[in-house]
Amino acid sequence: MPTRRAFIGQTAAVMGLAVSGRQVSAASHAPATLTARDATAQLAPDGYAPTSIWGYEGRAPGPAIRVHQGERVRRRLVNGLLEPTSVHWHGIRIDNAMDGVSGLTQEAVAPGQAFVYDFVAPDAGTYWYHAHNRSWVQVARGLHGPLIVEEAEPPEVDREETLVLDDWLLDPETAMIEDSFDQPMRMSHGGRIGNLITTNGRFDLSIPVARHMRLRLRLINASNARIFPLQLTGMRGWTVALDGMPLAAPEPLEDVLVLAPAQRADLIVDVTTEAGEIAHLVRIGNNDQPASQVAFPVSGSTAQTPRTIPAALPPNPGDDLGALADAQPLRLVMSGGAMGRMDSAFLGGERLGFRELAARGRFWAFNEMAEMTQAPLADLSLGEPVRLEIVNETAFPHAMHLHGMHFREIRDGEPVGPMRDTLMVAVQETREIGFIADNAGDWLFHCHMLSHAESGMMTWVRVT
Ligand code: C2O
Ligand code: CU
Repeated sequence: MPTRRAFIGQTAAVMGLAVSGRQVSAASHAPATLTARDATAQLAPDGYAPTSIWGYEGRAPGPAIRVHQGERVRRRLVNGLLEPTSVHWHGIRIDNAMDGVSGLTQEAVAPGQAFVYDFVAPDAGTYWYHAHNRSWVQVARGLHGPLIVEEAEPPEVDREETLVLDDWLLDPETAMIEDSFDQPMRMSHGGRIGNLITTNGRFDLSIPVARHMRLRLRLINASNARIFPLQLTGMRGWTVALDGMPLAAPEPLEDVLVLAPAQRADLIVDVTTEAGEIAHLVRIGNNDQPASQVAFPVSGSTAQTPRTIPAALPPNPGDDLGALADAQPLRLVMSGGAMGRMDSAFLGGERLGFRELAARGRFWAFNEMAEMTQAPLADLSLGEPVRLEIVNETAFPHAMHLHGMHFREIRDGEPVGPMRDTLMVAVQETREIGFIADNAGDWLFHCHMLSHAESGMMTWVRVT
C-alpha cells in the first residue's frame, strides 16, 4: 500500500534515534528474547489433531511479561516467521518509536531479523502485546500475550489468574486454522468470529479453588472480533480496573460485563459457593444461552471467612483532563459494512462506489476515507486537550482503540469512568471521548475488530 511506504520514510529519523539510544543502555544486560514462530497447540478436544499456530515462544497466548510499575521492559523480538512482523504493547503509554506499528512507527521486522523493544511501563495494570503487521492474520494465528504491570502495593488476594479469552476459526474436520482471512462476508460483517472459544489456549480451562478464596482475575479479550458478555456464578465479584486503569471505586459485578476485542477487566472475586460445587466465569452466547468460559471447582474452605469489599486500586498518574472546554472538537464518522448506508468513499484520492471499494477489499470508512490517509485525522500540539465525537452509522459495533494515550468518556460534557484505551461504540450510537495529547508521536486510532481495521477502519493522530 503506497501510503504506508510513505510513512516508513517519515519515521526513519525517529527510528535512528531509538537505535542509538538503545546502544547506550545495552551494556547492562542482554534483553530476553521473544521469538515469533510457528508451533502446534492442542486447541480442539482430544481426538482432533493439534492445530498449527503462530505464537510468541511458540505459545498462544505467549509468555506473560510481568514488571513492576515504572520498570523497564526489554524484549528482543526475533522473527522466526516467513513474513514480516512487529510487536505492539497495547495500552502502554510508550515512546512512539517503541509502539510497534509496522509502516507507521517502525519498519516491519523481516523474517530472520530482530528488533529490540525497550520502554518503561508508566501505569500499573493489565495490558497485552500483539503483532501489529497484518494484524488481522497474525493475531488470529496466535501472536499475542499478556503484559502485566504490578502495583507497588497490589491488593491482597489468595491467588491471581490472568485469563486470555480468545476464539479460533478452525476447519471442523482438520482443526487447522481456516485460511479465510480476507473473506468479504466476514470483513463486511462482524469480523472474524471463531468457532472454538478458549481461555489461555484451552476450551475447557479449569482452575481449582477453595471456598472463601479471594482471587484477582485479569481478563484480556485477545480475539479478533468477538465481544464477550461475561457473568460470574458461585462467586461474588467487583470490577476494580478496566483496560488496566483503576476504577475510582470497585463496582459490584452483579450483571453482565461486556468485554470488546482488546479490552481488559481486572476483577476481584470471592468464591461463595459450597465445596463440591463448581463456580464459573460464564459467557452469554448469541442465543442468550450461558456457557462456561472458565470452571472453578471448589474444595473445602480456606481459613478466611467472607471478606469486606475490596479497596480501590491506587490510581495511575494523569486522569485529570483539565479544562476540556478549551478542547479542539473532533469528529469521526464510521460508515460502511453490510447493511450500512455508505454509498461511496475515498480510496487513493478517488471517490469510489461501495462495489468498487468492496472489489478492493474496502468495506468501511472513517470520515469517508476507506484507507489510512497520508494526513492525520488531527494535528495536535503536545499537551492539548481533545474532545472526539465518534459516530457509528454502521450496523455493527466497533471497538475503537487509541494508541499512546488514554482517554475518558465524556457524557454531558463531563468525563466519566476510568481512563481507557479501547471503547466499544454500539450500532448507531454516538459516544464522545476526551484526552490530553500528552505523548508526542504518530498514534493509530482504529477499530480493534481487526479485519475492520484492515478494510478501512484505521486513522491516526499526530502529536508534536
Ligand atoms: Cu491492540 Cu493498534 O492495537
Ligand atoms: Cu469495527
